[in-house]
Amino acid sequence: MTSQFSKKSEAWSARFSEPVSDLVKRYTASVFFDNRMASVDIQASLAHAEMLSAQNIISPQDYADIERGMRIISEEIAAGQFVWQLDLEDVHLNIEKRLTELVGDAGKRLHTGRSRNDQVATDIRLYVRASIDNIVELLRDFRLALLDLAEKNSETILPGFTHMQVAQPITFGHHILAYVEMFGRDTERLIDCRKRVNRLPLGAAALAGTSFPIDRERVARTLQFEEVCFNSLDAVSDRDFAIEFCAAAALIMTHISRMSEELIIWMSPRVGFIDIADRFCTGSSIMPQKKNPDVPELARGKTGRVNGNLIALLTLMKAQPLAYNKDNQEDKEPLFDTIDTVIDSLRIFTDMAGGITVKADAMRAAALQGYATATDLADYLVKKGLPFRDAHEAVALAVRNCVALNCDLSDMSLDTLQQFSNLIEADVFAVLTLEGSIAARDHLGGTAPKQVKWAIQRVRGILQ
Ligand code: ARG
Repeated sequence: MTSQFSKKSEAWSARFSEPVSDLVKRYTASVFFDNRMASVDIQASLAHAEMLSAQNIISPQDYADIERGMRIISEEIAAGQFVWQLDLEDVHLNIEKRLTELVGDAGKRLHTGRSRNDQVATDIRLYVRASIDNIVELLRDFRLALLDLAEKNSETILPGFTHMQVAQPITFGHHILAYVEMFGRDTERLIDCRKRVNRLPLGAAALAGTSFPIDRERVARTLQFEEVCFNSLDAVSDRDFAIEFCAAAALIMTHISRMSEELIIWMSPRVGFIDIADRFCTGSSIMPQKKNPDVPELARGKTGRVNGNLIALLTLMKAQPLAYNKDNQEDKEPLFDTIDTVIDSLRIFTDMAGGITVKADAMRAAALQGYATATDLADYLVKKGLPFRDAHEAVALAVRNCVALNCDLSDMSLDTLQQFSNLIEADVFAVLTLEGSIAARDHLGGTAPKQVKWAIQRVRGILQ
């Protein structure tokens, strides 16, 4: 036996006759990415130790020593003085080793009735739970910022598009409210996912439970888990809660990406609907005229990473036999990357929402092109008694005439319009205006300024 080795890697070394190579050490270690779970690891260890002591599995003195040691470790970590060692593989073994250095045998007793398998599953759940709470708050801030933007623009008219072609006039406030809805559903998804994250694996030990008289419900209460995981094999092996979280996160980024795409198009000088504050843009190193919407472009790009992380976790889980396998150590980097990316994106977008300048004149000019009120003319004819399909046909002919004459529907004289239907009267011009068109869509979920203002108040009420 290599004596030096057996001293170093205490967790399992006595079983081994030769040390792992440096490459294998580096390959198998996770400490340099899982050490961000240090505070939840300590939190979970303290809850476990408190239960061990309450159940007379360790002494009250051991628990007091563990608490004291963990306090010192927390301070060392906060001060950046804790030395993370690759040799000690992961966050769990690093902390346990330091604890033993600080408090002796009590540190060695901490792992009674526990395994790193249930320990890591607990840590990840605590970490994801805190991240969800953080992201839910950020989504709220973002939605409030979008509501402000919508409110300022509840009467600002722009063309709504389908197939990237001018469809019907809408208000910019209404358009922004569409995103408020999307991010609202994203919030619901996270809150729902949290319930399944919030279950306690500890007590499952390696896979089969433990022979010690543990009290899992006590630990669950201490750590504010809603319930325990009811099967020990499942508790240590599944990461479905993380996959679910990553799916919810991928949808958040997908919504951010769609918004990014629109911001980029709107900011393009050819469209010119908005300007984004300089602090979110960069110039070009060669073309002096450029102001590029870097933040939305990056967010659109980062969505690919977050979607990829979801696929990584699904693929990681697929075909793993029960129970724990080391594959699961690979869950952390995609998960953490997803959390970081979503948090950064939401924070920056919340700030950016306040830095959008709306160019109402350009929006209005665009809405006046492309026969945006053609549907209004058809509806007008229906209200005068024409069946909708016939009205549709009559207006299609009118639009064709406009295309030939290169004019808008509202540019045609009453006489000309009447050639397409004798039901058309002088009151038609009211419905052909942009204001008339949006004001007419005056029902729940419609684009009329009155409805937009009401919708804003509705969401504000929910967010209060
Ligand atoms: N670092 C490991 C992980 O992240 C901890 C669990 C290790 N368990 C084991 N049986 N090797 O999954």
